[in-house]
Amino acid sequence: MVLVSKPKNTTGGLKAIFGLLTVVTFLFCNYIITSSNESNSLSSSIQRLENTNRDLEKANEELKKKNENLVYDIDELRDANEKLQNDLRNKNQELESMSRQVQQQQSEATQVSNAVRQKKWDNWPAVAYEQVGKPLVFKGDSFYNHARELYFQPQSNGQTLFDEFLNVYKDRPDPVNMCGIRINHAMALFLAVKHLQPSLVIESGVNQGVSTYFIRAASNTTKIFAIDPKEKPICDQGERWIDQSNLTVNYTGENFTDILDLDWKSMVDKKEIDPDSTLVFLDDHLHAFKRIASVMKLGVRHVLVEDNYKNGEGATRLDRNSTPKQMLSASKWKKEGDWLFNNIVTYAEFPPLIPPIMAKESPEPKKSRGGFMVATDLNEDIAHPILRPDLNEDDMKLFKDAVAKLDLDPTLVDRNSYMQFMNYNQFCHIEFLPMPPSLLYQ
Ligand SMILES: C[S@@+](CC[C@H](N)C(=O)[O-])C[C@H]1O[C@@H](n2cnc3c(N)ncnc32)[C@H](O)[C@@H]1O
Repeated sequence: MVLVSKPKNTTGGLKAIFGLLTVVTFLFCNYIITSSNESNSLSSSIQRLENTNRDLEKANEELKKKNENLVYDIDELRDANEKLQNDLRNKNQELESMSRQVQQQQSEATQVSNAVRQKKWDNWPAVAYEQVGKPLVFKGDSFYNHARELYFQPQSNGQTLFDEFLNVYKDRPDPVNMCGIRINHAMALFLAVKHLQPSLVIESGVNQGVSTYFIRAASNTTKIFAIDPKEKPICDQGERWIDQSNLTVNYTGENFTDILDLDWKSMVDKKEIDPDSTLVFLDDHLHAFKRIASVMKLGVRHVLVEDNYKNGEGATRLDRNSTPKQMLSASKWKKEGDWLFNNIVTYAEFPPLIPPIMAKESPEPKKSRGGFMVATDLNEDIAHPILRPDLNEDDMKLFKDAVAKLDLDPTLVDRNSYMQFMNYNQFCHIEFLPMPPSLLYQ
């Protein structure tokens, strides 16, 4: 500590001043020294700060770089995300449009399936469907669907085809024809030959010759191959009626050759037959479906099946398991029915002349093997009859005139009248698609 005493004189004053100056200088130097020390430590701090700052700047640079990279990555990710979103949107739009198309196609298919053609008739229980699996099936527009017009419209000579048919029927070689066709099936056969005018009819199953008689009566220019293994008719039907026309070849008895064993190729090559204009008439109680497929493969386009029994009916085991009607109707024959339906142009069952109710007074019992109409059956599998004497007076007159001409009884009480009009097996006509030539005669 510096003590300043009050000068007693000048020298003393100078001394005091000097002392003061010394103290001041000391203090100043001390200050300078202190300041310099502080300055040194400050600059080293600054140095450190600068270093730290540089480090920070460096770190910042690196962060910036990293940030830039991150921004770049984020941009890439954003682009990729946008692309994905676009792709998803496009895919969704595609899916929506596909789903709309599928819905459209489904609704069109539903409309088509709802539009399956049907034939309904007033006061008749059956509906005919252009579809497999129904009790009554048809396909295309067969002339059998126009049986009423074809038989009852007056021709140029003022007569109807039914008038002509009745004259032929009245003169049939066996009026009962116990094991053969009666009025419904004779009308079907007669109309088919009249309408198709085939160059050849192959009749498989002749028996007494009654069906040969109707074929010849319908056309005197048609060749007939009459085929039957029996020399004589079955069912005690007496002598066979033999067609005197030289256009008929009898493959009967010793000359029997099954329709499928005929030398088709040779006859076609020699132009003796033309399958395209040949009509096959099956009345042999064999496997109808297999025979139909076989003659189709030979190039035949038209087949008639007499014993076209419905489901559960048939005179023989084969009749009960092979008719086209069974194939087209029964679920157990669905594959056969589909194949048949898809390979034919037309299929139709010839309608009965009158409904079963016309035999209401008949005492005849229902036949367990079928082949006869019964009023109390459901009759959903029988086409609408040609005449409705039960509903219409004009039709009743036509029926009564026919019955009178045939010397039968319109009440159908007697056995023969009943058998003539009620015998009915859904006789059908089938027109096939043409067989490609490369598949013929292999
Ligand atoms: C129901 S009758 C035919 C009736 C004749 N179509 C009619 O309506 O007057 C069946 C005939 O088929 C004959 N038949 C049997 N097997 C045959 C075959 N493989 N080819 C041709 N006819 C056959 C029988 O001999 C019998 O005379």
